[in-house]
Amino acid sequence: MADKKTDVIRLLKNAGSSPISGQEIGDKLGISRAMVSKYIKNIKDEGYEIRSSPKIGHTLISSPDILIPDEIKKGLKTKIIGKEFIYYDNVGSTNSIAKDIALKKPNGTIVLAETQNKGRGRRGSEWESLPGGLWFSIILKPDIPLEHASKITLIAGLAVAKVIQEYGIDAKIKWPNDILINGRKVSGILTELNAELDGINYIILGIGINVNVDIQGLKDDLKAISTSIKNETGKRMDRAAFFKNILQELEQQYIRFEAQQFAGIIDDWTKLSDTIGKEVTIIDPTGTIEGKAIGISENGALLVRNEYGIKEEVIAGHCRHKNG
Ligand code: BTN
Repeated sequence: MADKKTDVIRLLKNAGSSPISGQEIGDKLGISRAMVSKYIKNIKDEGYEIRSSPKIGHTLISSPDILIPDEIKKGLKTKIIGKEFIYYDNVGSTNSIAKDIALKKPNGTIVLAETQNKGRGRRGSEWESLPGGLWFSIILKPDIPLEHASKITLIAGLAVAKVIQEYGIDAKIKWPNDILINGRKVSGILTELNAELDGINYIILGIGINVNVDIQGLKDDLKAISTSIKNETGKRMDRAAFFKNILQELEQQYIRFEAQQFAGIIDDWTKLSDTIGKEVTIIDPTGTIEGKAIGISENGALLVRNEYGIKEEVIAGHCRHKNG
């Protein structure tokens, strides 16, 4: 049923502004006109605007802003990421689902949801996932030594910031993995690792991006520090096209990561970083580190020069920029 419905949508889209008759759709898909009418009704119920005239046929006027895996897969230029999609209208957390199924699913499988009601952020925080965002988790099974696993977060931040930049929007990465536009958070990344002594079983790379999210709908404490792409540009974005670009860029970076080309990754990350060169305070479970962020080390840690001129390596923590 789902496949034929997608085929009807595809035929309507291919016809553009020209009407296509129920007979023609039926002939092309090998189904009766009555079945076509049923699918058209179904598609309209999903929010597609279709002008139907018994004599002329059906014309697609507008499509709803929903992410249909089959449509995303079409023309997606990746070999690993997005080979399989698991799609939910609403779910607890895509990271939790991905973790549950990771061992059974191939490298690159994506769990995607229109909304999450128990979205998880870093350090146990809640992640608000309203309609119009991109909320997805990728199951990755990289063939690299365990000690390099933490660098996966760097490639994800780099890919997201790079793609947003390609849309002419000045996105920056705040260490370790927040993407900011004009100092406000537009995207967050939650990486979860499952490994044994002899290597990585899987990594769940969870990415949330406020694409067309209405920021006014967020909780009060988040409104002032968050933004969305729509909020910044004043325009709704084609989420499916944007998502494809993100997946393609992620794959490019993932290939570099598996090939252990870390120097290039760190260089590119540094160019898009909002943190390097700034005075920072890093809070981690062992205490507070203050100083100037001067770079990323070979093993992916933040290098901070403290007031005594000593270089410290920070693997994880919450980072605050002084003076914005
Ligand atoms: C953060 O900045 O605190 C990380 C936020 C990560 C949110 C994403 S949305 C998709 C995936 N599923 C989750 O439950 N969390 C991540």
